[in-house]
Amino acid sequence: MCGIVGYVGDKQAADFLLEGLSKLEYRGYDSAGIAVYDGSKIRVEKCVGRLAALRDKIKDNVPQGSIGIGHTRWATHGRPSDTNAHPHTDCSGDFVVVHNGIIENYLTLKEDLIEKGHVFKSETDTEVVAHLLEEVYNGDFEESVREVLRRIEGSYSLVFMCRQHPDELICTKQDNPLVIGLGDGENFIASDIPAIINRTRRTYILNDGEMAVVRKDSIKITNRKGEPVTKKVFEVNWNAEAAEKGGFEHFMLKEIHEQPKAVRDTMSQRIAKDGKRIVMDELKWNADYLNNFHKIYIVACGTAYHAGLVGKYYIEKLARIPVEVDIASEFRYRDPIIDENTMLIVVSQSGETSDTLAALKESKRRGAKTLALTNVVGSSIAREADQVLYTWAGPEIAVASTKAYTTQLILFFMLSLYMAEIKGTQTEERVAELVAKLQQIPAQISETLSDVEPIKTFAKQYGFNEDVFYIGRSLDWDVALEGALKLKEISYIHAEAYAAGELKHGTLALIVEGVPVIALATQKSVYEKTLSNIKEVKARDAVVIGIATEGDDELGKYVDHVMKVPETDELLTPILAVVPLQLLAYFAAITRGCDVDKPRNLAKSVTVE
Ligand code: F6R
Repeated sequence: MCGIVGYVGDKQAADFLLEGLSKLEYRGYDSAGIAVYDGSKIRVEKCVGRLAALRDKIKDNVPQGSIGIGHTRWATHGRPSDTNAHPHTDCSGDFVVVHNGIIENYLTLKEDLIEKGHVFKSETDTEVVAHLLEEVYNGDFEESVREVLRRIEGSYSLVFMCRQHPDELICTKQDNPLVIGLGDGENFIASDIPAIINRTRRTYILNDGEMAVVRKDSIKITNRKGEPVTKKVFEVNWNAEAAEKGGFEHFMLKEIHEQPKAVRDTMSQRIAKDGKRIVMDELKWNADYLNNFHKIYIVACGTAYHAGLVGKYYIEKLARIPVEVDIASEFRYRDPIIDENTMLIVVSQSGETSDTLAALKESKRRGAKTLALTNVVGSSIAREADQVLYTWAGPEIAVASTKAYTTQLILFFMLSLYMAEIKGTQTEERVAELVAKLQQIPAQISETLSDVEPIKTFAKQYGFNEDVFYIGRSLDWDVALEGALKLKEISYIHAEAYAAGELKHGTLALIVEGVPVIALATQKSVYEKTLSNIKEVKARDAVVIGIATEGDDELGKYVDHVMKVPETDELLTPILAVVPLQLLAYFAAITRGCDVDKPRNLAKSVTVE
């Protein structure tokens, strides 16, 4: 996720560009840049760090001109640095581009362009777009951009500038947001409404495949084929704060709803063209090397630790390598048995969690080979680990982690399938079947999110005032742990998760009339066993809310309410089953009037031991 802006009008472009970017920093803030046409050339100013660093850099010499583009970055390809910051230019500096998204075929395009003599300055996927435009440019800016779009694959919102056409910007989008703000003798472009809301409330929201040529007094919108598109003006009636949250009441709810896109981004570039295998080009360990690992530790904290529990299940089930999962603050002091055939996987959204970082360093010191699963490019954990796989979930602002968890599960699943192929532990058919199921997950999460009203009603109806129990077996237990953590941290309700079969060994004493129990029963292999445990709590008059998969007509007979998630392979159900639990926690917290995005006593990134 990055933030992009554009301006064309009679005023100084830099004023809007800097103002707009400041409203988009929630989309990324590891570097920033602007490009402004000064009457003879396009001047680009960019640097690593937050927007304040850019402001400081140009404060005595702000680029002058009334057309320009800008960018605030959340690194995906290439670490945060001055050269990797946007805007990016071609060899001549005549073509300038800002981009939000991922160009999936950039390596092939880059090789080809290098062969044709183009010289690249950055490690980004975006720079190929500028060189490609230079390569195909035929004097017709619009037609040349269209040609570029025919050749690139991936997700993007893009804004182009060209020195030879100094009165227009061209923008387009595919799977990433882009809006045009309609001014009086000026027009604005932005990733998101907060950037323009102080200037205008009249907007066009671009759809995938649409392209706009934006001048100060006209906007021409066409579709992929170049046919004109007539758009209705969308009047924004949110206030600036709501706009930043995309119209959602809280960042947490926004991030829950971002999950279909986030998991799609995690998958992008990691599924082979034939759709049957996983590719992990970024993993520089070759097959022989990967085959040598006979033990894996997964180490993390909190939600990332819960993702690790699912990761263990995936790796053991699919790649048949023994895995131990540890809480980082315990692992580092427990004298773990590690040698050079041990792989240590650390999981961290922020990449800055102090205990996880310390565990990583300790394991390296003992000779383990280390792999980080993280969301933040260039974070301390990403830099320290031998290998990194990024979740590409975009910035997570709410303290309670949601999209980081689901993207971590996706990444673990893909890694397990990838290792399974190398180790020959699954048939080609089984791998292809699971990859096909995996690709349905974004749409299935959207389906789960399409009607949140029943979950809101449960949260209100039960009030969840004192203790809530979450039970499940196998992967359902892992998800139960995450569901209970969500409820605890944002609603301050005491919640505990138990392996359903373990209740009778003590905890069942706490189950009395009216105690809410959230029972997950999505795992077919242990379904009957789970059902018996549900009957045990029902017999003690607990109020049971069951989580089942579509097509399960049985569970409803034994519980008070059922929430259903779409049918998939049982390995993948955690990614769907966690969604209603996130929503339940969210609505319970709202019902109790809690500050959802900033729960008491907690911080987003725990950089102390
Ligand atoms: C809970 C939550 C925390 C984090 C934990 C690790 O919602 O967000 O439990 O998961 O502090 O953080 P990262 O993943 O940044 O290492």
